[in-house]
Amino acid sequence: MERISTQILQPDDAGLTRAAQILAQGGLVAFPTETVYGLGGDARNDHSVARIFAVKGRPQFNPLIVHLPDMDSVSRIADLSAQAQRLASAFWPGPLTLVLPLRADSGLSSLVTSGLDSVAVRVPEHPVARALLARFDGPLAAPSANPSGRISPTRADHVSRGLGERIEAIIDGGPCAVGVESTIIGMTGRPTLLRPGGLPVEAIEACLGAALARHDDTGTISAPGQLASHYAPGAPVRLNAAHAEPGELWLGFGPDSAEATLNLSQSGDLVQAAANLFHHLHALDAMALPGQRIAVAPVPEHGLGIAINDRLRRAAAPRG
Ligand code: TXA
Ligand code: MG
Repeated sequence: MERISTQILQPDDAGLTRAAQILAQGGLVAFPTETVYGLGGDARNDHSVARIFAVKGRPQFNPLIVHLPDMDSVSRIADLSAQAQRLASAFWPGPLTLVLPLRADSGLSSLVTSGLDSVAVRVPEHPVARALLARFDGPLAAPSANPSGRISPTRADHVSRGLGERIEAIIDGGPCAVGVESTIIGMTGRPTLLRPGGLPVEAIEACLGAALARHDDTGTISAPGQLASHYAPGAPVRLNAAHAEPGELWLGFGPDSAEATLNLSQSGDLVQAAANLFHHLHALDAMALPGQRIAVAPVPEHGLGIAINDRLRRAAAPRG
């Protein structure tokens, strides 16, 4: 792939103006959201979207999330049912993505949706993402800003390491507060959990007053991109490890993991653990000597623990 120089931009007036200019010219800019850094490109421009797939090395059948500033702009590209509006009013801006019926006049590149008649949309909360959307004044396609199959970036330097010299710019907005990707809910039929993420499932079910279908119980809903091996560090990963064995680095959780190389949260706080997850995996991966494994302490399966365990299982899955 052609090497280009990647500008590191500050999230100030000059940096945001430059970023919006690059996007308008069809270039790619990585930017912070509250979940993870996104790799942004103009969602209406086939060339920009094709380059997102190319620089990530992403399988073409895996559609992208479109980022917009508010519900009004979402309603110009997709149909919001009453239930979808209810979730949107409760949780946008925030770490929630809705898969909605695509409008025929959306103006989006069909590469964004991989030709499906639905589209994944999200209204991010991070002030830098919002400022960029305001200046660019259009829909931004943005997958996580990592090479396909690798750990998602929660800091600008993670993006530089994975995609440096392949994209025009990175806006450095510091660490991401949530630290795992958005929760994705399919709203084209019965509300369905397609990917657990930064918004706890319990909060969504309380808002709807009903349980979400799980994508494995419907059989009909396809969530492309739910590849078993994903989010993987280079070193092999062993789960539910109460301690480290020889030749292992240990990623701990809670006060019982006193001997851990790194701890997701000393106090056992799942919100803090989510915020640390990818940063600690990046760090352990950099530390691991050839042949060393990463052992991970058990994490409880509720609240943000559901998303953390989902990402950890993918990191540990046999590599394709
Ligand atoms: O937090 C996030 O969601 C981050 C930040 C940057 O916003 N973005 C992110 O995007 O995680 P990405 O591209 O890495 O994940 C998008 C997921 C994929 O698993 C994809 O298959 C699914 O969304 N998706 C996109 N469009 C879909 C559709 N029409 N139907 C079902 N799943 C869809
Ligand atoms: Mg991703």
